Amino acid sequence: MNAPAAEITVLEPAGIQAEHVRDLFDGYLGVAILVFILVLGAFTVALRRAPASDDSAKIELTPAATRARRRAVGAASALTLITLVVLLVMSVVTGRALASLSSKDALSIQIVGRRWWWEVTYVESIPANMVRTAYEVHVPVGRPVELRILSSDVIHSLWVPNLGPKRDLIPGKNTTVLLRADRAGTYDGMCAEYCGLQHANMRIRFVADPPDEFQEWLNRMRAPARAPITEAERHGQEVFLQTRCVSCHAIRGAGAFATVGPDLTHLAARPAIAMGTLANDSAHLRDWLVDPQRAKPGVIMPPAGVSDGDVDALVSYLRSLE
Ligand code: CUA
Repeated sequence: MNAPAAEITVLEPAGIQAEHVRDLFDGYLGVAILVFILVLGAFTVALRRAPASDDSAKIELTPAATRARRRAVGAASALTLITLVVLLVMSVVTGRALASLSSKDALSIQIVGRRWWWEVTYVESIPANMVRTAYEVHVPVGRPVELRILSSDVIHSLWVPNLGPKRDLIPGKNTTVLLRADRAGTYDGMCAEYCGLQHANMRIRFVADPPDEFQEWLNRMRAPARAPITEAERHGQEVFLQTRCVSCHAIRGAGAFATVGPDLTHLAARPAIAMGTLANDSAHLRDWLVDPQRAKPGVIMPPAGVSDGDVDALVSYLRSLE
């Protein structure tokens, strides 16, 4: 369904906020190249002027030479200070540019960083059929998106390089980030603050859709979970509701409401499970249910702890939740 993800890079921005970050990068790079050339030039001049004899350290400086040396040191210090001020100004200008994106008509999405997954809630959706998902965040192209980000445990950091700057999630401190995707596509992001064993597998995916496609997606997500049809799916739902699964996960429309783990109402619509660690297919889902620790050591999810037949039914049911 979705296009392959774009290369993760700040150098190919897909939105206005990421463009500001790229411009800052370019500016800093330009200053760094200039400084590099100046330092090499000064070094070359110094080498050429160096006395040939070995005991240069013993050479007495004339008063004129001392004055010249002082002037050179003074000039170099001033140049360094000016360079730092230029970098500071560039940084402040970028900060202001990032803050200037209007939040008018913005789509609000709450993203909660948790060990080790991202809980995504579309705030505007009606409470009765609130869209809550994990890992995959769909956003409309051309419309500002206000990400309300918070952490439920430790410090995480949300970073989608193609879309905007990195922002830390500090427990107890809510913050917002404004983004706007200007090019449709799939942009992967990650947690950028070490947060424990599975920090590296705490991925997130932003999919920027044309507005009408986004609305279609949101409407699909608003619908409650598809009711089981086959015998295996029906049995799978029973297993889900009668075992430990139901104490952590929600499936809207199936009588499961827990919020410890990701909402599974439309699990089968997501491209990956375990926050991008495993492809979302029957084989990987089965492995994941039987032994979550194998794919993600340290993960809080316990094994399903049911018979082989029940696991198969569970897989059938979960795979039907499109
Ligand atoms: Cu969450 Cu690193």
